[in-house]
Amino acid sequence: MTRMTVNGQPVHYRMDPRTPLLWALRDASNLTGTKYACGVGVCGACTVNLDGRAVRSCQLSIADAEGSFITTIEALSRGRDHPIQQAWIENMVPQCGYCQSGVIMAAAALIDGNANPSDEEIDEAITNICRCGTYPRMREAIRLAARVSRGEERLASAPPPGIDPEDAAANVEALTPPEDGEGDEPGRIVSE
Ligand code: FES
Ligand code: FES
Repeated sequence: MTRMTVNGQPVHYRMDPRTPLLWALRDASNLTGTKYACGVGVCGACTVNLDGRAVRSCQLSIADAEGSFITTIEALSRGRDHPIQQAWIENMVPQCGYCQSGVIMAAAALIDGNANPSDEEIDEAITNICRCGTYPRMREAIRLAARVSRGEERLASAPPPGIDPEDAAANVEALTPPEDGEGDEPGRIVSE
């Protein structure tokens, strides 16, 4: 059994400890905002935040992540109002969108640790692959988000997407405590 905290909730995975964190998040926790693409640590589509760092969850086993605090795109903010999310909307960054949750998680970790990143630091931190080529809009949005985090600019919060923002992280099925008697099958998450 492997224990960690996912989006603020203590969970344990009844899965082979070698299972990639990506599969535990997607298949057991139903947190499908984190994407699978290359599976070999190159593209960054699977990026999540682990103890404050952006990591590629396809390259990390759940055993490696034991005891960590994981945040996925579903819980980056309660109201879609992290400066990166606001800047992403303002700059209309996504095209197809597939790579975007990974890029957003990498960009958020960058801004959270460095509110004034240079262009070189942005290029160093964001090595994600975007097949749609949205790189110029990503970089522009990161610079905007940095200005927002420094208090030099303000943006309206992200508009509601048509659902209660709390639904994104609080009420996903796998993070809802199971009824008595459930939770023994492999891969089941049990909130504690
Ligand atoms: S799917 Fe993990 S880096 Fe590409
Ligand atoms: S927006 Fe399509 S792959 Fe990046």
